[in-house]
Amino acid sequence: MKKSAFITSLLLLSTMYVCAQTPVYLDEKAPLEQRVQDALSKMTTHEKIRMCHGQSKFTSAGVPRLGIPQLMMSDGPHGVRAEISWNSWAYADWTNDSIVAFPALTCLAATWNPQISAIYGNAVSEEFAYRKKDVMLGPGLNICRMPLNGRNFEYMGEDPYLTGEMAVPYIQSAQKNGVACCVKHFALNNQEVDRFAVNIKVDERALNEIYLPAFKKAVQKGGAWAIMGSYPLWNGVHCCQNDTLLNKILKQQWGFDGAVISDWGGVTDTWQAATGGMDIEMGSYTNGMTKESEFGYDDFYLGNNFEKLINEGKIPMSVLNDKTARALRTIFRTAFNRNRAYGNICSEAHYTACRQIGDEGVILLQNKKGILPIEAKKYKNILVVGENATRSLTKGGGSSELKTKRDVTPLEAIRGMYGNDVDYAQGYSSGRVMYDHVDNVSADELARLSSEAVEKAKKADLIIYVGGMNKNTKQDCENSDRDDYNLSYGQNELIARLAKTCPNIVAVMISGNAYAMPWKNDVTAIVQAWYLGSEFGNTLCDILSGEVNPSGKLPFSFVNKLNDCPAIALGKESYPGINKQQTYKEGILVGYRWYDMKKIKTLFPFGYGLSYTIFKYGKPKLSASTMSEGDYITLTTTVTNSGKRTGKEVVELYIGDEKCSVLRPVKELKGFKKILLNPGETKTVTFAITYEDLKFWNDKSHSWTAEPGMFKAYLCSSAEDVKGEIEFELK
Ligand code: GLC
Repeated sequence: MKKSAFITSLLLLSTMYVCAQTPVYLDEKAPLEQRVQDALSKMTTHEKIRMCHGQSKFTSAGVPRLGIPQLMMSDGPHGVRAEISWNSWAYADWTNDSIVAFPALTCLAATWNPQISAIYGNAVSEEFAYRKKDVMLGPGLNICRMPLNGRNFEYMGEDPYLTGEMAVPYIQSAQKNGVACCVKHFALNNQEVDRFAVNIKVDERALNEIYLPAFKKAVQKGGAWAIMGSYPLWNGVHCCQNDTLLNKILKQQWGFDGAVISDWGGVTDTWQAATGGMDIEMGSYTNGMTKESEFGYDDFYLGNNFEKLINEGKIPMSVLNDKTARALRTIFRTAFNRNRAYGNICSEAHYTACRQIGDEGVILLQNKKGILPIEAKKYKNILVVGENATRSLTKGGGSSELKTKRDVTPLEAIRGMYGNDVDYAQGYSSGRVMYDHVDNVSADELARLSSEAVEKAKKADLIIYVGGMNKNTKQDCENSDRDDYNLSYGQNELIARLAKTCPNIVAVMISGNAYAMPWKNDVTAIVQAWYLGSEFGNTLCDILSGEVNPSGKLPFSFVNKLNDCPAIALGKESYPGINKQQTYKEGILVGYRWYDMKKIKTLFPFGYGLSYTIFKYGKPKLSASTMSEGDYITLTTTVTNSGKRTGKEVVELYIGDEKCSVLRPVKELKGFKKILLNPGETKTVTFAITYEDLKFWNDKSHSWTAEPGMFKAYLCSSAEDVKGEIEFELK
C-alpha cells in the first residue's frame, strides 16, 4: 500500500475514532431523540436531578462537565423583562436591558388577525434571543371568565377558539427563532384572589370546551416547547403536580414532548411533583413572589428529597429520565441550537411591529357625529385630560412589567400631531405604582384635580380624555383582582362633568378588562385602547387622526353591570370561592355563551368594533344543506365596503346546534377572517364548516361527539350583530 494511502487511511481511522468518542449530543445534525438519549446515558443521577429544578431565580441547570448549557428563562408575554438578580427578585439594574414593550395580549387578541400574531411572536422572540434568553414565560392563554381578574390583560379574552387561533402563530414564529414559549398558566388560573390556594371544581364539559382547548391547540398546532403549571388546585391537587392534568391529559392524551415548568413557588410536595408530571421546578421556597428563604436550590422539592427517593428505588429511574429528557429536549431546541437567531432589541422593525399590532388592536366603540377622525383645523382649543395621557403603562402589573428604551405617551404624540398649544389637565391621580399595595389618594386631591380639569374644559372645544385603568394593584395587576367594576379615582364623575362642560369629548380608555360606562351616552366617541407598549402615543394618534382606520374587535364582553356576568351572578362560591373552595357554576356558559342564552343585552358585545367606513354583508350560501361524519361544507358570503375609506372588517362565523341531548350555547365562534376592502370593493369570504366544528364534549363517553340533526351557521360582525344565518343538517 502506498505511503500516502496509508497515512490517509490512518487519519480516517483516527478521525472516526474521535467521532465515535464525541458525544452525539454535540452533533447538532443528529436526530433530537438520539442527542437526548446520548446525553442521558452520560449524565449522573445527581446531574439529572439538578436539571429538574432551578439553580437560580430564573435559570435551571445544564451539565457543565458535558458542556450542556443551562436554561435561561425570562418573563414575559409582552417583552423581555429587565434582568433579575441571580438569587432574588431584586432587579439587577443592568444598563443594557431596555427593550421594546409590545402591546398586551388583549390587544393582540383584539386584532383578530393571525398574521399580526405571527409578526408579534417573531419580533418579541428576537428580543429574547438577543438577550440570550432560552425560554420566554408566555403567552398566557387563560380564559377571561369575569372582568375583575387582575391578569386578564395578559390573556386573550373569553373565547377558547379566538385564544387558540391567535396563540398558534405567535408560538410558531417565536420558536422559529430558537426561543421556547412557555405557555401559561396551565390550567384554570382565571383569577388572582387566593391564586396559590384556591381549589377549583369545574365540570368536565367546561374544562374541555372552555378552559383546555387553547392550551391543547398551543401544544398540538403551535408545537409549544414548554408549558407552565399554574398555582391553583384542581380537584384538590395543585396544578403544578397534578397527575391527571400533566401526565394523563397533557403528556399522554395530547402528546406534549416538552418540559412542564412550575410557576414560581407552585410546587409544594416532592412525591406529588415527582409523580405528578412536573419537570422543572422553579421559584420554590419563596411565598411565590417575594420572601426568600435560607434553603439552597438542592433543597427544592425536586432536589435532594427527590434524589433520595430515586436512590432508594421508591421512584423508578424512568420517571427521572423522562423529566431530564424533557429538559434536555428544551435545551437542544434553544440554548444548544446553533441555528438559534441572534436577534436584536429596539430595532425600528420592532417598533414598527409594536405599532402595527396596536393599530390593528385598538377598538372604536362609539363615534357620534363622526367626530373621529379628528380634523385638527376644526378645533381651536383641544384639551387633553387624564393621568393615562402622561403615564408610562409598561411598568407595573407584576411579572409582565417591562423596562423600555422608548415610551411615547399620548400627550407627547397628540401635541406632536395637533400642536404644542394642546392643553392638559391630569383630572385624577392614581398615586404611586406599588406592587401589592394601593396608594390611597385623598378625596381632596381628587376633587382639586377634577375641578382644575373642568375649569380648563370651559375653554375647550374638544376634549380628548385618556383614562381607564392602569397597572397598579387592584387594577390590571398580578396577585390582585379589582374590587369594583367601576373605574377608580372618581373618573366616572369626572367624565360626566367634562361632558356637561364641553359637547365634543372623545373618551380614550386604556385597560385590560371591561368596566362600567355610566357616561357612555354623555360622551361623543369611545376608543377602547389597550396597554399598547412602547408606541402607545403614536398608535393612539394613528387612530385619532384617521391615519389608520380602526379594525379591532372585542375579545371579551362589556356587560352593563357586574351582576350580568355569570361568574359573579352565581354567588361567592362561583367567585372568588368560599374558604378557598370554588365552583365554576356557569359551566360552559362563559361570556357571550351566557348572554346569548339568558338574552342579556351587553354594553358592548364580544366581537364588537366599529370602523371609519361601512361594511355591507351579502347573504350566506352553503355548498350543501347536509353533511355527514368526516365531511365538510363551505359557507360563502360577500362583504362590501360601502363607505369612503379603506378599512378592514372581521367576519365572524358562529355555529349553533339547534337541538341536542345536552345543553349547548346558542352559538359558538368557529371561524373568523379579517379582510381589507377599498371603498366600493366587494370580496367573497369562504369558511369550511367541518364535522369537528359541530362537536361537544360528551361527559359520558369522555370524548368529543356530534349529534345528527339541524345546525345553524351565523355570520356576524359581533356576537350580537348577526348579518346572516343559514341552516344545515348533520346526517
Ligand atoms: C409569577 C407569575 C408567572 C411568572 C412567574 C415568574 O408568579 O405567575 O406568570 O412567569 O412568576 O415571574
